[in-house]
Amino acid sequence: MFHFLCASTKKEASRLAADLAIDLLKKNPEAVLGLATGSSPLDFYADLVEANKAGQISFKKVKSVNLDEYVGLAPDHDQSYAYFMHENLFDKVDILPENTHLPSGTAKDLDAECRRYHELLLEVGTPDLQVLGIGNNGHIGFNEPADVFPENTSAVTLTESTIRANSRFFSSMDEVPKMAISMGVGEILRAKKILLLAFGTAKAEILEKALFGEVTPRVPASILQTADEVYICADDEAMAVIREKHGAIA
Ligand code: GLP
Repeated sequence: MFHFLCASTKKEASRLAADLAIDLLKKNPEAVLGLATGSSPLDFYADLVEANKAGQISFKKVKSVNLDEYVGLAPDHDQSYAYFMHENLFDKVDILPENTHLPSGTAKDLDAECRRYHELLLEVGTPDLQVLGIGNNGHIGFNEPADVFPENTSAVTLTESTIRANSRFFSSMDEVPKMAISMGVGEILRAKKILLLAFGTAKAEILEKALFGEVTPRVPASILQTADEVYICADDEAMAVIREKHGAIA
């Protein structure tokens, strides 16, 4: 079931998403959060940092699990997702470092690391809220279009289009990692609430396809149609195709 948190700009829409998370953390200060990287959650994290600074919420008892990490990048690499999380959230709020978790991109044995992360997810517990972005090809986490939905954490080979999209953060295409470790779709769907953030014209087509098209592993985000409580946080640009085809639903 989809609930829409829409506003004209990314900043305003992100505020609505942050309010959802702030409310959740006020009610449950021991919440488990599933976290995402990318440009989509930046304003959302900034609002959470502000609420923490203002004393409205505390992360002292919060536990977090991240969706994914690039294979080959150590946490001190400025394009690693561990680095991103420290820069944009962990180092700016009162979360305890030992309560934050990401897959290790530098593990020697990738299969063993995937198994370890799966076990860790079970141990940390069901996320109260899972934050997601959406890739231009419909990926969630790094679950790329495929023949089946990957159930559990796995090592994935990134598609050409994802490597191209993510090359904007690296000095050249060659530097973009070609693999990642990603939480599986089954693990993502365990969350009690899911928050999908999508902003800008580039996401308009794929957002419509994911939310209203066929449920298929060719569009990994389409699996969200089967989840109970999904919040779609989008700006006017990202909502354009949905509104064009399905009317003013939000
Ligand atoms: C990356 C991440 C995803 C993210 C996606 C969209 O590939 N692995 O988790 O959702 O990109 O990124 P952005 O939010 O920058 O558009």
